[in-house]
Amino acid sequence: MFPETRMRRLRRGKIKDMVRRTTLTVDDLIYPLFIEEGSSEKKEVESMPGVFRWPLSMCEEAVSEAVDLGIPAVLLFGIPEHKDSIGSSSYGDEDIIQESVRRIKNKFGDKIIVITDLCMCEYTDHGHCGIIDEEKREVDNDKTIPILGKIAVSHAEAGADIIAPSAMMDGMIQEIRAALDDSGFSDIPIMSYSAKYSSCYYGPFRDAADSGFSFGDRSGYQMDPANLEEAVRETELDIFEGADMVMVKPGMPYLDVLYRISTEFEMPTAVYQVSGEYAMLKAAAMNGWLDERKAFFEAAISFKRAGADMIITYYAKELAEMIKNNFKY
Ligand code: PBG
Ligand code: ZN
Repeated sequence: MFPETRMRRLRRGKIKDMVRRTTLTVDDLIYPLFIEEGSSEKKEVESMPGVFRWPLSMCEEAVSEAVDLGIPAVLLFGIPEHKDSIGSSSYGDEDIIQESVRRIKNKFGDKIIVITDLCMCEYTDHGHCGIIDEEKREVDNDKTIPILGKIAVSHAEAGADIIAPSAMMDGMIQEIRAALDDSGFSDIPIMSYSAKYSSCYYGPFRDAADSGFSFGDRSGYQMDPANLEEAVRETELDIFEGADMVMVKPGMPYLDVLYRISTEFEMPTAVYQVSGEYAMLKAAAMNGWLDERKAFFEAAISFKRAGADMIITYYAKELAEMIKNNFKY
């Protein structure tokens, strides 16, 4: 009790650094990248200043910035020229994501881990994450999962190091694991977007990836923000089905979920600080209302504190630079 106990004793100078329980390292970071087919210049995403859609011809340049900073992994999203109701540009050998992966792996080899986001919403004209059952006007789970398996194999054939399925279809991890194993890719890990909420914080991403939907929303397959235990069940199922790493998405509004998942399963756990979280911090910073660097650094620390092993963030490059320069907050 006070006055014998004084918490302030350890909050001074170097002592504070010694007793810190949570640290951020560059190995924690994953940098998301958008590659756009049929484009010849890099275009800034309006709602995400500092984030670009890169043309295929510049994808090596985009990755080299991350490699130079020591960031271990990128997460790739493809934006195809052609969209249709069945997302047929998602699994071809010469489609945008397959071409990007090949180019990046050719240039950098083991210097970068290429993770591919696996979903159909960037490739479908209706913008949903799977095949639509026209009568019910909803995504047909069981028709979608074999296609996800096929896309996964195409990513692996192109050289992807990790496959990250984000479609939130039931049974998709099992289907993808089997498809990969049958095609000789039993060594390719799956990072499942296991607890992915139906969140308005993905708004700017849909602008970045040109993947807004033409009817309804994704609440039929993504999770209800009000539910915590459901995230535990979702994650448990994914682990049983063969996920090697799990994920909570979004980040800051779901720190309780992150804490729960990381402590409950003790699996390699990623968190995705999504487009809306980035846009929020950026907008406040641009208005001079927040110290941007301190704000995103603090957010990153909070993810680690809540149990994240990996942080997917549009601030990855800035964070890497700050970590290198021993940033003090
Ligand atoms: C694809 C996917 C989305 C995001 C990652 N993968 C969009 C969505 O589900 O609507 C969102 C990422 C972000 O907002 O930064 N399903
Ligand atoms: Zn999707």
